[in-house]
Amino acid sequence: MPMNTTNFPIESLRAESTPFYYYDLHLLDATLDKMKESSSFPGFHIHYAVKANSNPEILKRIAASGIGADTVSLGEIRAAIAAGFPAAKIVFAGVGKTDEEIAAAIEYEIGCFNAESDEEVGVIEEIAKSLGKKAPVALRINPEIDAHTHHYITTGLAENKFGIAMSLMPDVVEHCVNSEWIEFKGFHFHIGSQITDMTPYRILCEKINILQEEYPDLAIPTINVGGGLGIDYDNPEDHPIPDFDEFFNIFKNNLHLRPSQQLHFELGRALVAQCGTLITRVTFVKKGVNKQFVIVDGGMNALLRPALYQAHHKIENITSESEKTEVYDVAGPICESSDVFGENVQLPVTHRGDLIAIRSAGAYGEAMASSYNSRPIPASKFSR
Ligand code: LLP
Repeated sequence: MPMNTTNFPIESLRAESTPFYYYDLHLLDATLDKMKESSSFPGFHIHYAVKANSNPEILKRIAASGIGADTVSLGEIRAAIAAGFPAAKIVFAGVGKTDEEIAAAIEYEIGCFNAESDEEVGVIEEIAKSLGKKAPVALRINPEIDAHTHHYITTGLAENKFGIAMSLMPDVVEHCVNSEWIEFKGFHFHIGSQITDMTPYRILCEKINILQEEYPDLAIPTINVGGGLGIDYDNPEDHPIPDFDEFFNIFKNNLHLRPSQQLHFELGRALVAQCGTLITRVTFVKKGVNKQFVIVDGGMNALLRPALYQAHHKIENITSESEKTEVYDVAGPICESSDVFGENVQLPVTHRGDLIAIRSAGAYGEAMASSYNSRPIPASKFSR
């Protein structure tokens, strides 16, 4: 049986010039609907982590669903506003906000800064004062939790560039609450990305409970638990939508929110990964000594994750009609030996001109694409 298990509109895709990102907007909508249903508890608010995918069509669709946006640069703030996210529902995170970005965010009257150091709080305070506008600030605390994910995307452990260490936190809280120009909004945490075992989130809830007990007299309007919910890269058909019920219930059942306290989430990957596919075309099927290579026309320039994180994405030949399969290494055209999407991939017998789909590429795919080797950034096409 051919291994193309999905319903791609193959004839229309074949007519397009490759490589390009193909987004299934019906799946995006279904994912947003399910996420909203599963998170419909009092005080729960979702912000979409724009860094996962800032394609304007995708952003517009997400903004229309009514959730907020989590941004990490002025460019993302502008993209979010252009897509229709209200400024009050935008949070601005990131370890290296520039003065220009801070000033612009204050002028836009965004909902909250997530500040990552006492030094940053000082600069936000100064700029807020110079503009005569109070800045809403939450503090990103490093909760020292091992999220057991790839070391490049584990962020909650002690002493890394992100967040404020627990031991340094009390002074920074003092700084905020005593400042005339800062409105202290609460605490922010983010423990990592592509998290599929819920245990680290349960531990996070327990740590937050302890922290809240240590500050009985401090007003903490908001707790922000970041993002990180993972997706199934191996079997996108079986799990096109992540288990949002399991995820949100962890917080509902383990986190002791105070009366009228708000709980914020910053989900990126879980909302957009499965709706995106990188479509490439086979330029050559190349015979080696012991291997066969399928060379496709988009590589690490189009989708960096496999080269950068050794990430696995399911690979399909969506046009071959062969009943027979063969084993191939699937590689891109870039002059780097890491430019390989998969080794020993079983595909139906593959020929020059076939379309190869790299699945689950809607998050950190197009957003991380580059023009390395002077290749164009892939275009985007949408199911309507
Ligand atoms: N909040 C903060 C503070 C973050 O740093 C991130 C992601 C998120 C939320 C959203 O995380 P998500 O829900 O998407 O896991 N390029 C890597 C992932 C980097 C994640 C960076 N921070 C990848 O392709 O796997």
